[in-house]
Amino acid sequence: MKLILHIWRQRNTTAPGRMARYELNQVNEHMSFLEMLDVLNEELTAKGEEPVAFEHDCREGICGSCGFMINGLPHGGMKNTTVCQLHMRHFKDGDEVWLEPWRAKAFPVLKDLVVDRTAFDRIIAAGGYISANTGSAPDGNAIPIEKQSAELSMDAAACIGCGACVAACPNASASLFTAAKISHLALLPQGQPERGRRVLAMVDQMRSEIFGACTNIGECEAVCPKSVKIENIARMNRDYLAAAVTYRAETAAAGAG
Ligand code: SF4
Ligand code: FES
Repeated sequence: MKLILHIWRQRNTTAPGRMARYELNQVNEHMSFLEMLDVLNEELTAKGEEPVAFEHDCREGICGSCGFMINGLPHGGMKNTTVCQLHMRHFKDGDEVWLEPWRAKAFPVLKDLVVDRTAFDRIIAAGGYISANTGSAPDGNAIPIEKQSAELSMDAAACIGCGACVAACPNASASLFTAAKISHLALLPQGQPERGRRVLAMVDQMRSEIFGACTNIGECEAVCPKSVKIENIARMNRDYLAAAVTYRAETAAAGAG
């Protein structure tokens, strides 16, 4: 099949970008979307032109590296599907397809379709871990966890950090990502001792980055390739409020003492 691609080309963060038009004539419906871009890049390289930069690693929906807008929708808009899992059989001969990087101030464009998502790394570094000694893996697995908590925790842990939630949100909020990373430990016994400290540190870090605030629009959940639920944001906000009250009481008591 033949495709007409319009792709955002931008040399670096400060250079002006533009849409460039490419025609691909030999697209096989069995190719993945990224394989189709590999073919385009081989053609561009053979002509001595700069290949299109895009991120990928696993190419099977688990690492979170890939991700850009396809026709205005993160990952192309297919439910529970990352760009690397999208196949060309979902397109028709002669289709025009527009590819753009995530659009958010907190995710500056590095090159073409690649953005800088290190703001997510800084949120994780602020508290996306526990320091409790849980022993070896068998010891950890021996701790009884009620079924509902285990399942909700696993659902939150499915977040792959792709950034689609930020790109889809009109406020460019990182609340769904941060809430998922907070919830998956907050729902487990191992996460309880540091639960308050973690939520304060991670939410404060999220606020210090250039993300917008959550106004419950729900676009994040609609585009999330891992179906992470916005209930996690409600849990994060409840935990933050409770931790802030406790922390303020402790600070006041220490001051009085
Ligand atoms: S919450 Fe969903 S959309 Fe957001 S980073 Fe995680 S997997 Fe991606
Ligand atoms: S390349 Fe790993 S999720 Fe797409």
